[in-house]
Formats: sequence, structure tokens, C-alpha cells
Amino acid sequence: MIGPLERLVRPLLRALEPEDAHALTLRMLKFAPPLGAVRDDRRLAIRAFGLNFPNPVGMAAGFDKNAEVPDVLLRLGFGFAEVGTITPRPQPGNPRPRVFRLQADEGVINRLGFNSQGADVVLRRLAARTNAGGIVGVNVGANKDAPDRVADYVRLIERFAAVASYVTVNISSPNTPGLRALQQAAALDDLLARVVDARERVAPHAGPTPVLLKIAPDLSLAELDDVVGIARSRRVDGMIVGNTTLVRPPSLRDTNTAKEVGGLSGHPLFPLATRMLAETYVRVEGVFPLIGVGGIDSGAAALAKFRAGAGLIQLYSALVFRGLGLLGEIKAALIAAVDRDRLDSLNELAGADAAAVTAEPWPR
Ligand SMILES: Cc1cc2nc3c(=O)[nH]c(=O)nc-3n(C[C@H](O)[C@H](O)[C@H](O)COP(=O)(O)O)c2cc1C
Repeated sequence: MIGPLERLVRPLLRALEPEDAHALTLRMLKFAPPLGAVRDDRRLAIRAFGLNFPNPVGMAAGFDKNAEVPDVLLRLGFGFAEVGTITPRPQPGNPRPRVFRLQADEGVINRLGFNSQGADVVLRRLAARTNAGGIVGVNVGANKDAPDRVADYVRLIERFAAVASYVTVNISSPNTPGLRALQQAAALDDLLARVVDARERVAPHAGPTPVLLKIAPDLSLAELDDVVGIARSRRVDGMIVGNTTLVRPPSLRDTNTAKEVGGLSGHPLFPLATRMLAETYVRVEGVFPLIGVGGIDSGAAALAKFRAGAGLIQLYSALVFRGLGLLGEIKAALIAAVDRDRLDSLNELAGADAAAVTAEPWPR
């Protein structure tokens, strides 16, 4: 039912200002009649971070910032939904307009700046669904005006551990001034030490909560060495590679919109994000799994992400241009790959091409 309905409303959504289109999409999902859940093919099942994913394709952070529709997303067929970024106190984010479509490039630029309804509201929503099942990750960030940003992360982990399947420490948004500085070695070591300590402290009542680190694709390789070294020594459970980029590839066609300040996502992000994923994979040496994100817009792109090093994937921007049919297309391509290569599990694909990808010329 969703397919034909979506085809009807897509032209309307495209005609709306991007943030209005997003708000309308959320409302439609929220008030849609209850859907029968999609049952996934067993060949798509993946175990990672101690969790059983029915399929490895997740909704990336930023779509459902305030946890309004995680269960609808799961019923639509996502293997997991990451809500957030959530900040401790509510904050409005940057002035509008702050989301831009690069139509010709199938890209998006956003400078939302962590608009969030805040932890209290979101926690109440998530607490109300704790028995609903399904994998719902919670992506956390610091308030723009926080006097101690690390304390914001610690507080959010303490509060959300009990309702989150996993928690993502997001230090890679380009739209909160200074946030990405938390990726620098000394700051990151302190942050992860305190975050993991908070997780351990609440574990007796909250249960085990995997902690993932989401990084920017704009790190230098020397910075990536440090980040992976610290993530390993502080024993995070995984990394998400990665967030939006400040780079504007020379191939962009919508050169006017490309001048907007903010993070670029979607199709033009794919080469850089996939290269950084492979670079991360070879440094992690299988110690923990990676979630590959950035520019996945087809079954082939999804497969390339696995082969570059992903154990799981997430997407967002391509849904704007391709619609929800993309999810089914990706799952079909993954099942076909399992059959073609006679794999026991998609896990066997992860990183198969990582070394080759890191040997290519740097993507532009
Ligand atoms: C409008 C928009 C809002 C986003 N908000 C967040 C966010 O709050 N937290 C976060 O970690 N990533 C956020 N992202 C980044 C996505 O989660 C993802 O990492 C990035 O868009 C690359 O994937 P894609 O090319 O499939 O969109 C946002 C992306 C977009 C387009």
C-alpha cells in the first residue's frame, strides 16, 4: 500500500521546501494506518554489537531526530532505526532555510545545527516503546552552548542506555561550531573514557549498551590513525563512517546550491565516504564492526559499501530522490549477492575490497 501512496505524494514533496517536505513526511508516517511488518529473508540477518539485525539496512540519524516514528520505520522494512541527534536541552538549531536539495546531483546540504526537542521529551517517547522490540539506536550530541560538552554526552548515555539498543556518540556534525574538535586525540580519549565509564556505571540496571562512534569523512589519514587507535583502546563497540562532508567535489553540477554552508550528503558523498570506510576498516583489523553510510543510492552502491568494509549500512539522502522503493531494491541486491557468491552470511562480504579501495587514487 505504501508504494502506490508514496508515488502519489512524491511530486508534492518535491515541490515543497525541503524542511517542510520532511515535516510532512514525518506527519504522514506518524498518522499512517498501522502497517503489517515486513518479514525479512533469513539471508539478510546479521549479528553485530551483540544484537540480531533482521536485515543490515538502517535509517541514518537525522531523519527521525526526536524519535517520533522509529517503529513505523522498522515496520517499513528498515533493519534498524537510529534516532537523534538528541541534545540534553531543547534547542532550535540554525535559522531557516537550512536544508537544500542539489537536484541535479542527488545531493543534500544541511546546516540544521542539532535542532532537538531535548532529552526529556525524547526519553519519554522511547520509554513508551521499550517492549515494542526492534533495534533502535540513539544518537547523542552536545548543546551548542554547553559549558562542558563531554558532560552532555555522559549525561545522555546515562539517561538513554536503558531505552537504546545502542548509543552513537556523534562528534562529527559540521554544524555545531567546534564539535568536530572532539575528534582530536586528547579530547577524544577523554570523551570516550568518560562515555564508556558512564555506560559501565549504568549497565547493572540498563543492561549492556553498545557505544558507537560516528566520525566525519573529512578527517586526514593521520587523524584517522589516532581516532581508530583511541576507539580501539577505549573499547568502543563500533564506528559509523560517516557523517556529511564539508568538501564540495568538483563534479557537482548544482554549483549555486553547492555554495550553501553545511554538510553535503547523498550521491556526491559516496566516493569519499566509501574511501574513508575502507581506510577505517584496514585500521580496525576486525576488532569491531563498522556501519557504512554516505551516498548509498542503489543495490550496487550498497554492495560496494559492504565490500569496502561495512558490516551494516545506513541511508538517508537517497530516499529523498529515489523513495522507499530503494530499500527493497537494496535488500534484493544483497540477497542476490549472497546467492551468487554462495555466502553463509553477508558478514563474509565485509571488507573484501578494502585493501583495493585504499590503493586507488584519492577520490575527488
Ligand atoms: C537533513 C539531514 C540531517 C542530518 N542530521 C543528522 C544528525 O542529527 N545526526 C547525525 O549523526 N547525522 C545526521 N545526518 C547525517 C546522516 O546521518 C548521514 O550520516 C549522511 O547524510 C550520509 O548519508 P546519506 O548520504 O545516505 O544521506 C543528517 C543528514 C541530513 C541529510
